[in-house]
Amino acid sequence: MSIGVGMIGCGAMGLSVAKLLLKESSEIQLRGLCDPLESSIKTCKEQLGVDAPIYDDYRQLLAQKDIQWVLIASWNCHHFEQVMAAFDAGKHVFCQKPLGITAEECSRMYHQWKKTNLKFNIGFTLRYSPHYRKINQLLREGAIGDIISFEFNETLDFNHGGYIMGNWRRLKANAGTHLLEKCCHDLDLANWMVASKPRRVASFGGLDFFTPANERHIARIGRAKDNSQAYMTWDTDARPRPFLNPFTSDKDIIDNQVAIIEYENGIRASFHCNSNTAIPERRMYICGSEGTLRADVLTGLLEIKRIGFDTNIERIKTGHGEGHGHGDQVLAAELADSMLNSGPVAASLEDGLYSAFTAFAIDEAMDTGKVVSLDKYYQMLK
Ligand SMILES: NC(=O)c1ccc[n+]([C@@H]2O[C@H](COP(=O)([O-])OP(=O)(O)OC[C@H]3O[C@@H](n4cnc5c(N)ncnc54)[C@H](O)[C@@H]3O)[C@@H](O)[C@H]2O)c1
Repeated sequence: MSIGVGMIGCGAMGLSVAKLLLKESSEIQLRGLCDPLESSIKTCKEQLGVDAPIYDDYRQLLAQKDIQWVLIASWNCHHFEQVMAAFDAGKHVFCQKPLGITAEECSRMYHQWKKTNLKFNIGFTLRYSPHYRKINQLLREGAIGDIISFEFNETLDFNHGGYIMGNWRRLKANAGTHLLEKCCHDLDLANWMVASKPRRVASFGGLDFFTPANERHIARIGRAKDNSQAYMTWDTDARPRPFLNPFTSDKDIIDNQVAIIEYENGIRASFHCNSNTAIPERRMYICGSEGTLRADVLTGLLEIKRIGFDTNIERIKTGHGEGHGHGDQVLAAELADSMLNSGPVAASLEDGLYSAFTAFAIDEAMDTGKVVSLDKYYQMLK
């Protein structure tokens, strides 16, 4: 039996997932494309080598009987309406992160989905990465005993930060906050690692670097090898323009934030993000009752040591590099399995929901200067 797939949002991530997915099986066929940007459609058709029908309105795509699954990779602010419409049309969904941009959107998606028997996979690519799967396996096996507390971070290369500040993500109306849009992966991974969800959070953050006063850093750093300007080199071939000057653009997101989190099972954590670094990291440092684990997906190195007098650090190379810690390829294979054989879902709608709720609570804590309990968010699920 072949599976018909429709794609809503055909930019960089839509194309990347579709490319890998279509290679998984000839039984998975792309049967519709929808994107307001002609160049995205054109690149997709060329790179995927398919001549699928193009729909101006995603509702027309959803009305097609030969489409059973939709891949949604539009801007975050459209996920809610497109996912809800997909449920109404009886389509299974793979939706890019984050689930939605408000708590109300996310809880409504959850309730609506619960009324259906439809499958829903969220694009938490890092859940599929061998690096994070290894960490999770070690934690579940008790390799460091009970987790007591941990640190985690996501700090970005300066050009990646510049890209975010010059792209559609710079505006909360399009993408939600930076924490939601970019760090929802990390908040999800943390929930997964501690096998719990946050009880209360506090946070401080702001926009301190990407301001007009700092525009001089573009000239200070100079040009990249391809002659593009510093802070404006990120993946520009694959990504739709305009790519604005990140220092003078009209962004309303932060470029640095810290948060503390207490989970329902008593584990405590601190999180740090910064969008302008020379040494980017995506690191976890986890302290357990019997040992310590330190790992960074960007270096692909995982270190683990048992507490004791004559124990040694075990170093495990999990492999680093392209494709979200090699998660992209695994995601495509497991998504294909989900489509063709009803295989298990590694990142579910609930995972998307709890990660988004965590981001909303942390941002609320930052905005109000208060410690925020997540109770009111969880009440929305009753
Ligand atoms: N899983 C991951 O690791 C990961 C990485 C990057 C981006 N993403 C997510 O993927 C999604 C797309 O991001 P991207 O990096 O591909 O951005 P992009 O700018 O490359 O592509 C977005 C595309 O969505 C299209 N679009 C905008 N409004 C639309 C609408 N109403 N209907 C249909 N299409 C619409 C745009 O024209 C563009 O072609 C976002 O939700 C983003 O958060 C996920």
